[in-house]
Amino acid sequence: MDINLPRHVGIIMDGNGRWAKRRHRPRSYGHNAGMDAMIQIVKRAKEWDIRYVTVYALSTENLKNRPQEELDELFNLLRKYFSNHVKELHKRGAKVRVIGDKEPLPADVKQLLEEGENNSPPDGEFTLTFAINYGGRAEIARAAEILREQNAEITEQSLESRLYTAGIPEPDLIIRTGGEVRLSNFLLWQAAYAELYFTPVLFPDFTPGEFDKALKEYSRRTRRFGGI
Ligand code: FPP
Repeated sequence: MDINLPRHVGIIMDGNGRWAKRRHRPRSYGHNAGMDAMIQIVKRAKEWDIRYVTVYALSTENLKNRPQEELDELFNLLRKYFSNHVKELHKRGAKVRVIGDKEPLPADVKQLLEEGENNSPPDGEFTLTFAINYGGRAEIARAAEILREQNAEITEQSLESRLYTAGIPEPDLIIRTGGEVRLSNFLLWQAAYAELYFTPVLFPDFTPGEFDKALKEYSRRTRRFGGI
């Protein structure tokens, strides 16, 4: 495939619940399948030499509005992923980052996430970022608050450098599975010039082949950055 590839892909992994419902299984079954799909997509992204992938694993709204039982299942998945797969990623030279407010998370989950970040190789060739208890508006408000505390000048650059994503290039492509056509508070500032790709495919069915389709579509679009 001779294509212009994105450097950074963001993914809104939606549709796990509906996928499970169609199979008459609990929502947690869908999240489990979603984690497997995510692992395959990350592998594929690395094969394409895409340098940054950011996945929306839990929004601030999810944390507030989902039943505790479902949140517990999602925390269990994070425990599983961060105790097993993250070490494998590190061994392969990948960095792990977490964006969002970790404070309200269970203490052991918070610790696992921090270990995953801190044990990352410093010069990783690939960065996988998890948005967890993340909201784009809260991120921008937090950056503004930091600027105020530092009595710093407010410019696009100064604000950007106080976002959780400081140091990560902005996403070139944002994919949303599951049929909804919105950003839902994901990387609001960073998505200013991102190409958006929406697919009805539910996330557990979002195979590497589906990911390739999104990459093909991305390469087909002309990126003008507001010019002509
Ligand atoms: C949205 O689907 C998905 C989530 C709220 C969670 C995403 C999490 C995963 C894919 C698991 C990832 C695993 C780790 C370890 C990060 P939904 O439940 O809103 O689906 P629905 O719209 O069909 O109800």
